[in-house]
Amino acid sequence: MTVGDHAAEAGHVPVMLDRVLELLAPAVRVTGRAPVYLDGTLGMGGHAEAMLAAHPELRLIGLDRDTTALERSARRLARFGDRVTLEHAVYDELPAVLDRLGVPAVDAALFDLGVSSPQLDEGERGFAYSYDAPLDMRMDRTQRLTAAEVVNGYPPAELARILREYGEERFAQRIAAAIVRERERAPLDSTARLADLVRTAIPAATRRTGGNPAKRTFQALRIEVNGELEIWRRALPAALDALPVGGRIVVLSYHSLEDRITKQALAALTADTTPPELPVPLPEHQPRFRLLTRGAELPSGAETETNPRAGSVRLRAAERVREAR
Ligand SMILES: C[S@@+](CC[C@H](N)C(=O)[O-])C[C@H]1O[C@@H](n2cnc3c(N)ncnc32)[C@H](O)[C@@H]1O
Repeated sequence: MTVGDHAAEAGHVPVMLDRVLELLAPAVRVTGRAPVYLDGTLGMGGHAEAMLAAHPELRLIGLDRDTTALERSARRLARFGDRVTLEHAVYDELPAVLDRLGVPAVDAALFDLGVSSPQLDEGERGFAYSYDAPLDMRMDRTQRLTAAEVVNGYPPAELARILREYGEERFAQRIAAAIVRERERAPLDSTARLADLVRTAIPAATRRTGGNPAKRTFQALRIEVNGELEIWRRALPAALDALPVGGRIVVLSYHSLEDRITKQALAALTADTTPPELPVPLPEHQPRFRLLTRGAELPSGAETETNPRAGSVRLRAAERVREAR
């Protein structure tokens, strides 16, 4: 049994659960059809279970790109019977999934972005710098690209760009150069070798501060391997499109890059776009959404103390107030 299985059995606690439930509750209304909750990142099904338990009339459509996550949550949610539909899908495939299921709209949507605790805890999946394993990092193990292919195959400039942009790593150039030197000797194939290499590539004085120096490199590779940012950029507008008036979305982000995409997309849709030279706001330029949060909401100190994963979370939420056209 892996660490992840133990965590699952110990009852993992979903991040900012009470706030997510509170924000989504008003969107769950019976309007002649059963209300639909879309969980775009089902994971272990913690948020989904709480939503289904809180709203007996609610139907769940749960997506995950990780088949292990789907198997686990299928077991966890079995007692809700045919109220649950689980799909192995990347969340930017949402329009096709809804089409296939014949579901015209979703009333409440949640995206709890990034990797799950079991993905991090199962060392052999290669996400963790603290556990020696093959450099994999695929959330969906049916996909081709792995972290080993990125590290051993990408041109040096591309590697440096990924480390700089996705890891916000100031020593990107040095680390990329060290990777290229090392892979010329032998392919870099393990998390431990990569973590060691990063540590020796950065200036000695900076090794002592700011946690494990490999953290940013691992984040960058994970984002690249899973195409996280491009997929989120496509998926968020698709999810917003699926909400009827009164429908709500909540997004939990764990790093500034995905939070920025969320913030900008919501800001664009919640703004009055009447040209400034006009004296009165025009109805057709009124916002289609309203923000439900002021800036990004953070978890309580008590939550971050008991659940370290919640430490970096930022929550944003919005409600549709006007039809698309
Ligand atoms: C933080 S976990 C979700 C935890 C969940 N809210 C719970 O309560 O158990 C994120 C999940 O989203 C999945 N995921 C990440 N990116 C995805 C994508 N682009 N499409 C579908 N699933 C994705 C991951 O495989 C992971 O299982």
